[in-house]
Amino acid sequence: MESASQLYPENPKKNILLVGTPGTGKTTLAKRIAAVTSLTHLEVGKFAEEHNCLGSYDEQLDCFEIEEEKLIPLLVNALKPGGFLVEYHGCEWLASCKIDLVLVLQTETAPLYDRLKARGYSGRKLEENMECEIMQIILDEAYSFFDEKLIWVVPSNNEQDLEENVERVKRFLET
Ligand SMILES: Nc1ncnc2c1ncn2[C@@H]1O[C@H](COP(=O)(O)OP(=O)(O)O)[C@@H](O)[C@H]1O
Ligand SMILES: [Mg+2]
Repeated sequence: MESASQLYPENPKKNILLVGTPGTGKTTLAKRIAAVTSLTHLEVGKFAEEHNCLGSYDEQLDCFEIEEEKLIPLLVNALKPGGFLVEYHGCEWLASCKIDLVLVLQTETAPLYDRLKARGYSGRKLEENMECEIMQIILDEAYSFFDEKLIWVVPSNNEQDLEENVERVKRFLET
């Protein structure tokens, strides 16, 4: 007699991709979700660092370049088993990964501005991030790389939104 794993070789565990402009609350939500579900939080920037995919330091953008040719296959492989809550500001590099839901966080300009200020952003960096949110750059990117049926756009302005987003994800995992 065939075992269940032979009959159903696919692993049913889901991966959720959490995207949004810096400051929209991805890490905060990811930590809350990881605390109440079986999903493991995978922050793409940290993953890139741990897997030696960082290139040279970009003075203008104030961050390290990431060697995407090296990173993408590692991500594809790591995410194959499912069970991850993947956090990154954009989703292009995740396009060929197993992703079952893309959650796009959106924050109104006033609270986002305050959060980025509190993080110490100023000048061009602050402006660019505000513009990114206002122009819905991350949302457009999600629609260009993933099927719209997989994309949920959710508000992330306050504590109530946070609670509701945790509940949304719990319900999604139960289906
Ligand atoms: N739903 C929310 N309501 C109010 N403040 C929030 C919310 N989500 C995040 N924050 C705050 O906004 C700031 C940025 O959150 P963070 O999770 O680091 O964003 P990201 O990972 O998207 O850059 C933090 O100070 C965090 O406490
Ligand atoms: Mg973060």
